[in-house]
Amino acid sequence: MSENTFDVVIIGGGPGGYVAAIRAAQLGLKTACVEKRGALGGTCLNVGCIPSKALLAASHAFHAAAHEYAAFGVKVAKVEMDVNSMMGHKDKVVGDNTKGIEFLFKKNKVTYVVGAGQITAPGQVKVTGKDGEKILSAKAIVIATGSDVMGLPGVEIDEEVIVSSTGALKLAKTPKSMVVIGGGVIGLELGTVWGRLGAEITVVEFLDRILPTNDGEVSKSMQKILAKQGMNFKLSTKVTKVEKKGKGAIVTVEPAAGGGSEEIKADVVLVAIGRKPYTDGLGLDAVGVAVNARGFIEVDSHFRTNVPGIYAIGDVVGGAMLAHKAEEEGVALAEQLAGQHGHVNYDVIPAVVYTWPEVAAVGKTEEQLKAEGIAYKAGKFPFTANGRARSMNETEGFVKVLACATTDRVLGAHIVGPNAGDLLAELVLAMEFGAASEDVARTCHSHPGLGEAVKEACLAVLGRALHV
Ligand code: FAD
Ligand code: NAI
Repeated sequence: MSENTFDVVIIGGGPGGYVAAIRAAQLGLKTACVEKRGALGGTCLNVGCIPSKALLAASHAFHAAAHEYAAFGVKVAKVEMDVNSMMGHKDKVVGDNTKGIEFLFKKNKVTYVVGAGQITAPGQVKVTGKDGEKILSAKAIVIATGSDVMGLPGVEIDEEVIVSSTGALKLAKTPKSMVVIGGGVIGLELGTVWGRLGAEITVVEFLDRILPTNDGEVSKSMQKILAKQGMNFKLSTKVTKVEKKGKGAIVTVEPAAGGGSEEIKADVVLVAIGRKPYTDGLGLDAVGVAVNARGFIEVDSHFRTNVPGIYAIGDVVGGAMLAHKAEEEGVALAEQLAGQHGHVNYDVIPAVVYTWPEVAAVGKTEEQLKAEGIAYKAGKFPFTANGRARSMNETEGFVKVLACATTDRVLGAHIVGPNAGDLLAELVLAMEFGAASEDVARTCHSHPGLGEAVKEACLAVLGRALHV
């Protein structure tokens, strides 16, 4: 095989692309990964999951020192936040992680090609980089080009006053006020970061509840908790205009159903109304790869596009726009390309919102089970009744487990609470194994542990919780 001929060429080095590359190389396929950003890791490592969690961790530490330590008897004279140092922490975490992937590529013998990839014909990718162009040949081409910020028509994002998540991750100082357009995951996570540091946050959400894809009880509970933390909400409200004025902006809103308008002044406006597939410059039209009405690449259950030899995974194909979903698809596709039987179980994809308390969910919500006419039993256990949570002063929230009324198989789980994302993992595993709530309920959990709330919620499904 010549230097520029590969078994697999992957375009995009995000969680979908880089994981597919590593797995393909592990399976003996000669693999190249083309990335134009100048750093591996995609949206997730550079401007998504990792930097947002670094800021959430830093702002949580500040908030806890300023407002929560006193209850434990820890006296802190004066707590100050140095936003510049917080950004330094975030940048270091991002840099270390992205360099870590370069190391993994070397270790697994994946060829990292820096530049923009364009499919010029099936089996052929032209890469334009700083040093000019080169043509790569491949038996299989994988598109893993991810997604981009969705803008609001008529609103120009300058990443300083009117920002997307990318701008909100690098503000030079804490704004006095911030309007967040969209009460979804990004809005609540980044609204929380700046709210903890002192910004007055107003979330404007078009629908009648925040986190509209979560279980309804979870949405309601989180809205109450975040309101107690100082976040303001304008639900069932649409934004009609965002205008820069002075050093800030004015957001004009009105009821979604129509009615009188209102102006909200803010130093910073965060637009967080979703993300759209990114396929710019890929040359899809020229090779005839089909996309749907919303621009997502259409694939079958084996990630095949309509053009033989061209595959697509991750955010660019839609579904849950989550890093771990993209990674699972990357592994499954690499295994299929190596002649194995890679598979993704889309019924068991967890989703976590990293506010505090966290929100974690897997499987069906109560609303979905009702709509699908599936008879279920719900078991719920509050953290107020969990000894470990009480000792940590972290008693907000609950674990809710939904199980089939006839077989007791776990169909969904929803947690609001401390470390909810990590606690969810055992219920994700239970669902993957087709376990019943009784299987979890009969499993010994260490005491005192937050995990006991999971066990108790499963006992509650069976009508025999011990501690409520
Ligand atoms: P991406 O990560 O978008 O990677 C695609 C890569 O392809 C990019 O690096 C891009 O530069 C490159 N590319 C595009 N076109 C070309 C081309 N023609 N040539 C070469 N390279 C190209 N998900 C979670 O699971 N957990 C979280 O906590 C989380 N937090 C998030 C926070 C924020 C603020 C945002 C914005 C997103 C977050 N996400 C989170 C979502 C997550 O980032 C995405 O689901 C994930 O990155 C998708 O992976 P991907 O590989 O499909 O695409
Ligand atoms: P989202 O889909 O989570 O939320 C967007 C919200 O904006 C929804 O509540 C929607 O009803 C609302 N909305 C839409 N148009 C509106 C309008 N014109 N005015 C007011 N509200 C409007 O999208 P978000 O938060 O932008 O995140 C994008 C993606 O990134 C998501 O798919 C998410 O999965 C991923 N992500 C995941 C994270 C995690 O896993 N912790 C963290 C951050 C992002």
